[in-house]
Amino acid sequence: MRTLIKDHRVSPATVERAFAQLVGEGLIEPRPGQGTFVRQTMASATDVSNFAWQSVALGAARADSGFLGSLLAVPPPESLILSMGYLPPDLQASGLLANALRQAAGRPELWDRLPIEGLEPLRAWFAREVGNGAVFSPHDVIICGGGQAAISTTFRALVPPGRPVLVETPTYTGAISAACAAGLELVPVAMDEQGVRPELLADAFRQTGARVFYSQPTFSNPSGIVLSAERRAVVLNIAAEARAFIIEDDWARDLDLTGTAPAPLAAGDRHGHVVYIRSLAKSAAPGLRVAAVMARGAALARLKSARGSDDFFVSGPLQAAALAVVSAPGWKRHLNAARAALIERRDALVGALHAELGNRVTFQVPSGGMHLWLRLPDHVSDVALAADMVRHGVIVSAGCAWFPADPDGSFLRLTFAAPPASLREGVRRLGQVISLGI
Ligand SMILES: Cc1ncc(COP(=O)(O)O)c(C=O)c1O
Repeated sequence: MRTLIKDHRVSPATVERAFAQLVGEGLIEPRPGQGTFVRQTMASATDVSNFAWQSVALGAARADSGFLGSLLAVPPPESLILSMGYLPPDLQASGLLANALRQAAGRPELWDRLPIEGLEPLRAWFAREVGNGAVFSPHDVIICGGGQAAISTTFRALVPPGRPVLVETPTYTGAISAACAAGLELVPVAMDEQGVRPELLADAFRQTGARVFYSQPTFSNPSGIVLSAERRAVVLNIAAEARAFIIEDDWARDLDLTGTAPAPLAAGDRHGHVVYIRSLAKSAAPGLRVAAVMARGAALARLKSARGSDDFFVSGPLQAAALAVVSAPGWKRHLNAARAALIERRDALVGALHAELGNRVTFQVPSGGMHLWLRLPDHVSDVALAADMVRHGVIVSAGCAWFPADPDGSFLRLTFAAPPASLREGVRRLGQVISLGI
């Protein structure tokens, strides 16, 4: 480090950042007590493998934004992470999970083959959670390995390749990715502050002949928008008239910070139009790869067969541990504590944004979820700003990743789940970079 500082006439902080970036890219490797070394896995000049044949063998690539990879990438150590879509370690249900998994691992019957749809009591728990006198019975529930898996399976099971799927815009980048991987045509439908715009939704169904609409009616990721109570019935009617499905991704049901979230769309659905997805990874920990997809009628049979061909079933001990966690007395305490911390952190982020950026940015204060959708001045490029923030040790998500097409402005998605000190420091650096006129 001393040599680099001297040779390049830069500050120690700059060299540290360069090191952090190279570690993040896997090019160098710190070994405690020894120093930093070039990674041995790099091929030497005389030993270069040639994989060029593979691109011809694989044929045309499916269009994919590639943003999902950047979202899941492990950021350089010491960066301030304002891009995560999960609770950070200090808010995760780690104690409950450790106990539950230890006990489940000791039950031999759970290591045996399970039915595709999963353990009955866990399915019953998910069904009960929808409320309204149990719209879904336990038989209508299929356990999946996380919400992402549920979305992918549902797209593949319900929409033939090449057909359109309607999505709100902006929407979850993982849903964009899953639709691309299934060879579907994404049709964006605009939202306003009350959620998806009904007249545009009806028009999109009519114009494209789509039979599926992927939606997050409650605390949409990234915008935080909640579909208003008046529009819920309207949207259900539009889907019924189009004889179409709504895939309701209720990812943030447990992260309702003011206790005002409307009931799921599924709770008002009589004729099987809503396919409902609920995951535990957002409220427990990202490693709890357990979610449920619920449907009725022929859609349920299609989903079950798609799930089976995916990977048979979710590991038994993990399912049993998930059930033990959500049935434990400590689960409600965990959720209350996580929500209280999220409120405090959201308010810290909002305060820091007002203090550092004033009226140069605009946003709505979300009442659920864990993201704040920040509108930047039009002349500021979200991609350039996000890249610059990495150089300043702060990871944020560029808004364009969340638009299936035609972004209607420049945005950043910030998480407010990060510790308050990280939020304040991250926003301080954001303010500096924006002031420098990116
Ligand atoms: C809207 C939404 N749906 C689904 C998922 C998938 O979550 P998981 O697979 O961890 O349940 C995410 C994760 O970021 C999300 O934001």
